Amino acid sequence: MTTTKQHDLVVIGAGPGGYVAAIRAAQLGLDVACIEEASALGGTCLRIGCIPSKALLESSQRFQDAKEKLTPHGIHVGELRLDLAAMQRRKEQIVTTLTRGVEALFKKNKITRYFGHGRLSGLGRVLVEGADPIVELSAKTILIATGSHPAGLPGVSLHGDRIGASTEALSYSEVPKHLVVIGGGYIGLELGSVWRRLGAQVTVLEFLDRILFGMDSEIAAEAKKILEKQGIQFKLGCKVTGFREEQEQCVVMIHGQEPVEGDKVLVAVGRVPNTSHLGLESVGIELHKKGFIPVNERLATSAEGVYAIGDVIAGPMLAHKAEEEGIAFAEYLVKGQGHVNYDAIAGVVYTEPEIASVGKTEDQLKEFGNDYRKGVYPFRANARARTLNQVEGWVKILADARTDRILGVHIIGPHAGDLINEAAAAIAFGASSEDLARTCHVHPTLGEAMREAALAVNGRAINI
Ligand code: NAI
Repeated sequence: MTTTKQHDLVVIGAGPGGYVAAIRAAQLGLDVACIEEASALGGTCLRIGCIPSKALLESSQRFQDAKEKLTPHGIHVGELRLDLAAMQRRKEQIVTTLTRGVEALFKKNKITRYFGHGRLSGLGRVLVEGADPIVELSAKTILIATGSHPAGLPGVSLHGDRIGASTEALSYSEVPKHLVVIGGGYIGLELGSVWRRLGAQVTVLEFLDRILFGMDSEIAAEAKKILEKQGIQFKLGCKVTGFREEQEQCVVMIHGQEPVEGDKVLVAVGRVPNTSHLGLESVGIELHKKGFIPVNERLATSAEGVYAIGDVIAGPMLAHKAEEEGIAFAEYLVKGQGHVNYDAIAGVVYTEPEIASVGKTEDQLKEFGNDYRKGVYPFRANARARTLNQVEGWVKILADARTDRILGVHIIGPHAGDLINEAAAAIAFGASSEDLARTCHVHPTLGEAMREAALAVNGRAINI
């Protein structure tokens, strides 16, 4: 039996894209429903992505600090012991608190939650599969915000946590002896760092001749050097072709090179949009050849009344990009105008130190022949970084040589992920390096490194 319910808007997926879109649309007066197949709301980010990984990054860094970074402060600790189960419980508690927070936001905004798998069954219609009885929702507008899942390697199936993806690597019950990470991107470096700090030998196998593809190459090279000092081994130019399990070990096969053995393998070679079993054919949506759903500048698909945001459409697979699109979608729909500034969406890798980037990289400016000026300021010259004992890295600001408008900001250093928001705001407001340089920054703060880098664009840094 099928029951039918009517809403103004049906959102499929309650990740950062879907839940934020649902809330904004409800704020704007729509009767909103949201279908989610996982029991907890919040999507990959809250349940098995950004949040649990940051919890483990924080805990593992404390462990590392206690091992070797407290002595310079004059603090000596006794015998250090790792309670991994407690560390994992803390992570789970954070996830539970935050996913329940989304439930509370749904209640506050009177959003109806449906539990099951959402599948389009024609224009204006979505089935909630798995619900008993099956529910059919009818709505003038449908938003697809179904996110993405880890990509595998061609011809290789992932199984269990011995050869797994990020979800498995967030929940190992023991520290691996040797973790082999396939892919030197965001996930590989973050989760590789977690297990390295907790005592694992970590080897990252990367297909390209560099890590962090897409980020500024100078910053990526510095990141590799720093991570190597922390004991992570990198093998670049390695095309992983398959695996073989031999008793307790996994043998990772590499094209034209000696295999590498480890007791755990983390496959982190990108993510793939979740578009299967969505009933896209019932409304005539055809996927782009790269697998994502094509949309126009208002986030509308080719099917009337069907929109898509976040990881299922083109662009960086980042929670905050999905949120931005969620808000813009709701505002386009109800108010007729919305806004996403794709030039001002930053990316952050939460290694130690953090790596953050917004706008054009120096590589892109060179490639497109842009005339630019560059200001660089190292954290070793920043007083606050000295007091933190975190002096690795620098800020790099790239500005148009003619107009001085800021084109890109790239940071490797303490709290780079927080510092980058100032740069994103500067780019969003079309600021010049002079604007940043003339903004009084509090002393002593890490933010002063931003100001000094802005001054350095015109050769005027003070404290260096
Ligand atoms: P990624 O795209 O960042 O990196 C994947 C790497 O794997 C690339 O460098 C690629 O060259 C390499 N690779 C591909 N095939 C290979 C092969 N056969 N052998 C060896 N290397 C191979 O993807 P990742 O790290 O899996 O992350 C997925 C997405 O999740 C990213 O797009 C990222 O935006 C998002 N994410 C964001 C985070 C953040 O904002 N802090 C944290 C984690 C993920």
